[in-house]
Amino acid sequence: MAQYETLGHYYDALVKDEEASRRWVDWIESYQPGKRFLELACGSGEITEMLADHHEVSALDLSAAMLQAAAAKDPDHKVTYLKQDMRDLSNLDQFDAVGCFCDSFNYLVEDQEVQDFFGQIADHLPAGGLFLFDSHGLARLQEFEQDYEEAGEFEDGTQVQWMISAVDGLIYQDFAFYLPDGRTIEEHHMQRVYDPNTLQSWLDQAGFEVLDLSGDFGDESLENCEKYFFACRKR
Ligand SMILES: C[S@@+](CC[C@H](N)C(=O)[O-])C[C@H]1O[C@@H](n2cnc3c(N)ncnc32)[C@H](O)[C@@H]1O
Repeated sequence: MAQYETLGHYYDALVKDEEASRRWVDWIESYQPGKRFLELACGSGEITEMLADHHEVSALDLSAAMLQAAAAKDPDHKVTYLKQDMRDLSNLDQFDAVGCFCDSFNYLVEDQEVQDFFGQIADHLPAGGLFLFDSHGLARLQEFEQDYEEAGEFEDGTQVQWMISAVDGLIYQDFAFYLPDGRTIEEHHMQRVYDPNTLQSWLDQAGFEVLDLSGDFGDESLENCEKYFFACRKR
């Protein structure tokens, strides 16, 4: 089953956290990102819809289920939602800022893919334009050396099992959904964990200055954080 095809229906029930989304938006706004904002891998639109209060937002994601959840939060069509792979931005216009938030960047698992991604984002920004994103902290690899397991049940009676493990610089997330009609649907996700120094050098090659690199909204050291927060400006 494609990633997020089933998880997309349950994503908000599983992880939605309005306070955390507000913190994301406060972090984004602290860099004064300008009018035209492109959000990559916007998911169910929690951050997107808050950004749309102050920006002209275009937002894309690969998952139809995630986009459906996002569109349901946008009855006035304030956001331009697109079903699109963030690895190819060639059809898009210019923006003042581009963002990719909350464990989305990590789905790019090849070195070249990331370097091309940074290059394409730079192509869609003017000099001084902002690129804001997060990536998994290296500490997550140690955290998930021991498998993590969670189980739960949704309102519709579907049960979920969620397992996270880390092997060789990759984080695997395996979901099993047990539907009330007896079917089982599995989804397998793979995410890469990058050394922040490597990302910094690729950002530099793509024409970005890293304005700030911090851990978990600046609350945690780079050694121990869950996520690196990158704030970059096109030179
Ligand atoms: C962990 S979710 C985060 C969603 C959202 N950014 C948020 O803050 O909740 C990751 C999202 O990345 C999307 N995604 C993964 N790879 C993608 C790609 N190549 N192009 C576009 N979206 C992608 C998934 O469909 C999913 O919605």
